[in-house]
Amino acid sequence: MTARIIDGRAFAAGILAEVATETAALAAMGIVPGLAVVLVGEDAASQVYVRNKARRTKEAGMASFEYRLPEDTAETALLALVAELNDDPAVHGILVQLPLPGHIDTARVLDAVSPDKDVDGFHVINAGRLAAGLPGLVPCTPLGCLLMLKAELGDLSGARAVVLGRSNIVGKPMAALLLRESCTVTIAHSRTRNFPDECRRADILVAAVGQPELVRGDWIKPGATVLDVGINRVATEGNNTRLVGDVAFAEALTVAGRITPVPGGVGPMTIACLLRNTLTAARRSAR
Ligand code: GUN
Repeated sequence: MTARIIDGRAFAAGILAEVATETAALAAMGIVPGLAVVLVGEDAASQVYVRNKARRTKEAGMASFEYRLPEDTAETALLALVAELNDDPAVHGILVQLPLPGHIDTARVLDAVSPDKDVDGFHVINAGRLAAGLPGLVPCTPLGCLLMLKAELGDLSGARAVVLGRSNIVGKPMAALLLRESCTVTIAHSRTRNFPDECRRADILVAAVGQPELVRGDWIKPGATVLDVGINRVATEGNNTRLVGDVAFAEALTVAGRITPVPGGVGPMTIACLLRNTLTAARRSAR
């Protein structure tokens, strides 16, 4: 069997086109959705992410506000900026790029963002709403995974889903979303006893552990749908590097029913869902 490759770029392009259309309609009513992105420090990967987010925001017809603060920014100064953005009616979404420098209390900053503008879905109020099955803003990467799963598989109810990783950004919200779709959900993590056997039970396997090619082909149930959230840069011959996921792709391709590649799978959906969340927040602000 050769798995069907799920084209995340095509999915993301579809969502971005929809968001752009709906943004134009909202703008015609006098509301231009605005996204503020705050970057503290010089982290190289974060710089690239923030640049891409700003570009996509403008392409969708939204207003982009970028704040780049030095590495030694005091927590109080960052909290003051967040408070200012909370009060700014032109800003509908606020994203504080992670990781923050070590001297800043990340949880305190994330919880200072107004839950109504929390387009990352990281505020405890939004995490709680998701856990309770109430409407709220949902973290972008798991939301992107869910949209692809529903488009590929339709009704997910009764499926056995295994989520690898228990982070607040991906693992926990992914599990909550799958539970909301009536899947039977397992979260496996670094202390799980028999990782391969847990994986083998999965009709839907979501890998978000940040370990290059951890999931081998023989860990996958034949015909399963595999979503690979990992983005790991590994060394290759010479002085080169390449991106690989958390799944050994070539092996998985011969066993799985459907699989997302890295790059070009889950990654592009994250920004698309960020703009979708910004549109949602802007719409709600108009009510
Ligand atoms: N750093 C890596 N991924 C993310 C994300 O989805 N949101 C934020 N704020 N920071 C990140």
